[in-house]
Amino acid sequence: MNATTRIVAPTHIIEKEGKVVAELYHTRAELFLATLGDESVDLVVTSPPYCMGMEYERSTSADDFLNDHKRVLPEIARVLRPGGSACWQTGHHVRNGVVTPLDALVFIAAQSVSQLVLRNRIIWTFGHGLHSPTRFSGRHETILWFTKGQPYTFNLDDVRVPQKYPGKRHYKGDKKGKLSGNPLGKNPGDVWDIPNVKAKHVEKTEHPCQFPVAVPARLILALTNPGALVVDPYMGSGSTGVAAIANGRRFAGSDITRKYLTIARKRVGNAVQQKALIRADMPPRQPKATDSVSKLSRQWKSLRRKTYGSDV
Ligand SMILES: C[S@@+](CC[C@H](N)C(=O)[O-])C[C@H]1O[C@@H](n2cnc3c(N)ncnc32)[C@H](O)[C@@H]1O
Repeated sequence: MNATTRIVAPTHIIEKEGKVVAELYHTRAELFLATLGDESVDLVVTSPPYCMGMEYERSTSADDFLNDHKRVLPEIARVLRPGGSACWQTGHHVRNGVVTPLDALVFIAAQSVSQLVLRNRIIWTFGHGLHSPTRFSGRHETILWFTKGQPYTFNLDDVRVPQKYPGKRHYKGDKKGKLSGNPLGKNPGDVWDIPNVKAKHVEKTEHPCQFPVAVPARLILALTNPGALVVDPYMGSGSTGVAAIANGRRFAGSDITRKYLTIARKRVGNAVQQKALIRADMPPRQPKATDSVSKLSRQWKSLRRKTYGSDV
């Protein structure tokens, strides 16, 4: 047995009513995945390190990102049950101002894993982030959803969202005059507007790159049934685990950074006790025209008039 095949034990085992519902490992993704049996996992939802030199990253190279995925994705295919899903949430690698879309590299790595079939490329858009003076400010990341072959689980009715025009009716043909939409709501589509986790977000922890629980929750509800095993090999603060437990699924995950494991244990434990802080999956708040922050100051109005000839 060498270092990459060494079997590791869970660091935290979390129970609910005498049954194990979550196992958290303080280890590398590859060692964690090696503990999982063939075809034992229903869904993987993860956001890997972007190799941007964050405090938890050993690399700043997009080549390392690609090579890591060439090793990890075959393991993902091994542990997934037939018809299970893997969802990879990534953003952009930026070095010396040059942008590499990381989902392109995940897709390239997945091309040599024939069992993984791409079903959707979801755009996750959010209203806030850094303002770039040299290019358009980044306001989206992506999620690649792969299934291990077909048929696969897709519970659309569990993730429908309200229609813009629920009262819309067919205007011609046999169904003329009848309501045209689905009474349970519409398909959420492949562009998801969900606020990211910034300072005032109710889910914010010390982790610098959390995704909101609403992102994995939608995937878990749509792509698994209650009791399913959901896995996140780069779990960070445990957002996927919180989403899994809060929705009656089981969870296993790993992270190499001890302090994030501690945060994940607390959050997943809170989810078991139905005490986890979770922002409901609802559209971002729109400011009212009467809010003071919605109003243009006199100073800016005059500056805009001078620059553009109008203050709108
Ligand atoms: C983008 S963050 C994940 C954040 C997570 N989705 C959340 O909501 O908190 C990536 C995580 O991967 C962890 N990590 C980095 N390299 C790893 C490796 N080889 N194996 C496991 N975890 C790793 C980092 O410590 C970091 O917490």
